[in-house]
Amino acid sequence: MSKLQSQEDLETEQSSTSNLPNYMEALKKLKRFRFFEPSLSIIGFFVITVFVISSFFYLDYRVVVKGLRFPFQSQRFQWLQNDDDGVFSYSKRVEFLSEMGDGCDVFDGDWVWDESYPLYESKNCQFLDFGFRCLESGRPDNFFTKWRWQPKRCNLPRFDARMMLDKLRNKRMVFVGDSIGRNQWESLLCMLASVVPDQKKIYEVNGNPITKHKGYLIFKFEDYNCTVEYYRSPFLILQGRPPEGAPEKVRSTLKLDQMDWNSGKWKDADVLIFNTGHWWNYEKTLRGGCYFQIGAEVNMNIKQDAAYRRSLETVLDWINREVNTNKTQVFFRSYAPVHFRGGNWKTGGSCHMENLPQLEESLVSSQAWPKLNIASKVLASHRNHPKLRDISMLNITIMSARRKDGHLSLYYLGPGAGPASIHRQDCSHWCLPGVPDSWNELLFALLLRRFQSSNSTSQTEAV
Ligand SMILES: *[C@@H]1O[C@H](CO)[C@@H](O)[C@H](O)[C@H]1NC(C)=O
Ligand SMILES: *[C@@H]1O[C@H](CO)[C@@H](O)[C@H](O)[C@H]1NC(C)=O
Ligand SMILES: *[C@@H]1O[C@H](CO)[C@@H](O)[C@H](O)[C@H]1NC(C)=O
Ligand SMILES: *[C@@H]1O[C@H](CO)[C@@H](O)[C@H](O)[C@H]1NC(C)=O
Repeated sequence: MSKLQSQEDLETEQSSTSNLPNYMEALKKLKRFRFFEPSLSIIGFFVITVFVISSFFYLDYRVVVKGLRFPFQSQRFQWLQNDDDGVFSYSKRVEFLSEMGDGCDVFDGDWVWDESYPLYESKNCQFLDFGFRCLESGRPDNFFTKWRWQPKRCNLPRFDARMMLDKLRNKRMVFVGDSIGRNQWESLLCMLASVVPDQKKIYEVNGNPITKHKGYLIFKFEDYNCTVEYYRSPFLILQGRPPEGAPEKVRSTLKLDQMDWNSGKWKDADVLIFNTGHWWNYEKTLRGGCYFQIGAEVNMNIKQDAAYRRSLETVLDWINREVNTNKTQVFFRSYAPVHFRGGNWKTGGSCHMENLPQLEESLVSSQAWPKLNIASKVLASHRNHPKLRDISMLNITIMSARRKDGHLSLYYLGPGAGPASIHRQDCSHWCLPGVPDSWNELLFALLLRRFQSSNSTSQTEAV
């Protein structure tokens, strides 16, 4: 099928369908929106239009076809329809923070178009690595900033940065994990900073710059005496030199039964958000001569998944021993999916033509995520433990799996640098504003719920 023909097919289908999916409406609206945006030249508009049209061919064709053919069998469209009618939209769903919202699975839902998003602009936020600034790095579409996460059975509270900062007053919020955790942490910094009039009152306590910094960074919001901190620890546990007498090819080991050196700095946080997963693969361990160690012994036979499971046990054991869970709210953010097509990050895998989320929920199976399943099982096996049962899973894997449009792809070189080589795409990290903002909105909702239940006297005011 020629490109032209398939374009025609789509357009005929569009105009001949009376019950046009609102999703297409949204697209049309978007083009108009783009047109009137004063900062864009007419030429820019045409470039974008051509981009939009041409990118249709690169969309998962089955998804588009399915979406058009069965628009009202898909729940997604039902919600969209309801929202736009404004009649049924909220009748079926309860408020998550109300009593009836208790038990609502906020991770089960859909991405809906929302013109009131994004929550901030990257150009107004000084706390972002240039690598996450997709729009400033030349990404031509801003669609990816416009999707809001809508749980099926309840409504999330609208993110309220002032309320969150108030809740965090005199507190420490600590993110620990890999660079995707950093992605989420920077997103939260921008979300919170958007309501602070004097940006000088937000600073890194040791004066470290945010860009390319390894180790840890502690940002203080002076007016609230609270800190939002990030500790780089892709494995959460200790990586170090091999023991004496280890085979020569062992260049380093991951000590599966010991926590990261920095863990002492995490344990007194008021909110502690772990994530790990992306480094538990062959490439980042065994291939580079990094083997697994338990006690004094290097075990040459342990595979990454088994090691991952063992490390999570170590983290839970540490929480049990060292963390006062009456004070510290512990979250475990699940694995964030990657979307390389036709290869991986080294072999030219790509995602740069993706500019819409996946519409069909059923195409994403939770079975497809071994890292999610391992983490779920380990957490579930401690559900009866008095100190560990309250650890919340930020179960964002499946919802984010539908956001193949949300990655940096070619747009990570920073303002003015233009797109990267088409063969070196980043389909793991996420553009900001973007998908990690939604993780933080969920975190916000869960935290409010926790503060409510840990403090029944303030329950009414928080709702
Ligand atoms: C995570 O969410 C998905 C989608 O709602 C669900 O299928 C899966 O069972 C959840 N996993 C856990 C551990 O809650
Ligand atoms: C600021 O917060 C810290 C905890 O992070 C607390 O120990 C300290 O007392 C607070 N300072 C003031 C002035 O409230
Ligand atoms: C936490 O709270 C429980 C129940 O209120 C109590 O039994 C326990 O001693 C507390 N733990 C700490 C470390 O304060
Ligand atoms: C809990 O309630 C008390 C009394 O109403 C209030 O002073 C305190 O700030 C509340 N704590 C939280 C975490 O909301």
